[in-house]
Amino acid sequence: MSYKNEIESNKVPEHVAIIMDGNGRWAQQRGNDRSFGHEHGVDAVRSVVEGAAEVGVKYMTLYAFSTENWNRPQGEVNALMALLVHAINEETETLDKNNVRFHTIGDTSSLPQEVQNRLNFIKNRLKDNTGLNLVIALSYSSKWEITQAVKQIAHDAKEGVIAPDEVNEQTISNYLNTADFPDPELMVRTSGEQRISNFLLWQLAYAELYFTPKLWPDFRKEDLFEAIYQYQQRERRFGKTSEQIQEKNA
Ligand code: IPE
Ligand code: IPE
Ligand code: MG
Repeated sequence: MSYKNEIESNKVPEHVAIIMDGNGRWAQQRGNDRSFGHEHGVDAVRSVVEGAAEVGVKYMTLYAFSTENWNRPQGEVNALMALLVHAINEETETLDKNNVRFHTIGDTSSLPQEVQNRLNFIKNRLKDNTGLNLVIALSYSSKWEITQAVKQIAHDAKEGVIAPDEVNEQTISNYLNTADFPDPELMVRTSGEQRISNFLLWQLAYAELYFTPKLWPDFRKEDLFEAIYQYQQRERRFGKTSEQIQEKNA
């Protein structure tokens, strides 16, 4: 049985966000260094990108490197940066063939120049594609993003571009890195940790959270299908009562 056949096509989340966690533990279980786990994490990315496109997910945001991850040992940070360049070089063709568009969120100006160059290259190369929007969070943290937004709003208010009394939820969304994307309906985290780790705090306000013990390098599209299937079994009430929701669906 495949969960893919169980998924209701009219209830597929438009945006799925994933905290790809557990690479280090996966490698350590195999007696290897942590970077070995990051390398194998790329196989999981390839599979879920394919799977997301297959079931009609429109946006997929992958948390690849957090602001806090800069505090890891320098060797691991360097290996991750090198892997990013390598993965972009290897995957661009396939992503293009699959009609994927590529975006980033986060403080990409803090990344090594070589990484920034490759990111600009792939974004530009895939810019006319119309399929899945793949969003990679790099040097990203939600508190950083919200702080940037507040700064810019204060600046624009001072300059008279916006009126303080007119600031509403939509204004805030518009100033975030994710302004062009709908909020995720589903957030998946691998590796058994049950926390958000500074990821999309504003955007996940009403997301369904799905945690799996599977370590990221073992995660495949079938696991994504299972998460989407489980998501579809839930009742999203948005503060209303169950009766109200069922009336509306009747
Ligand atoms: C996720 O795996 C990848 C990044 C955060 C870059 P980890 O490297 O956090 O792996 P664990 O959680 O230590 O096993
Ligand atoms: C979250 O994973 C960041 C990414 C997956 C890129 P971490 O492994 O850094 O999170 P914590 O430190 O366990 O919360
Ligand atoms: Mg981790």
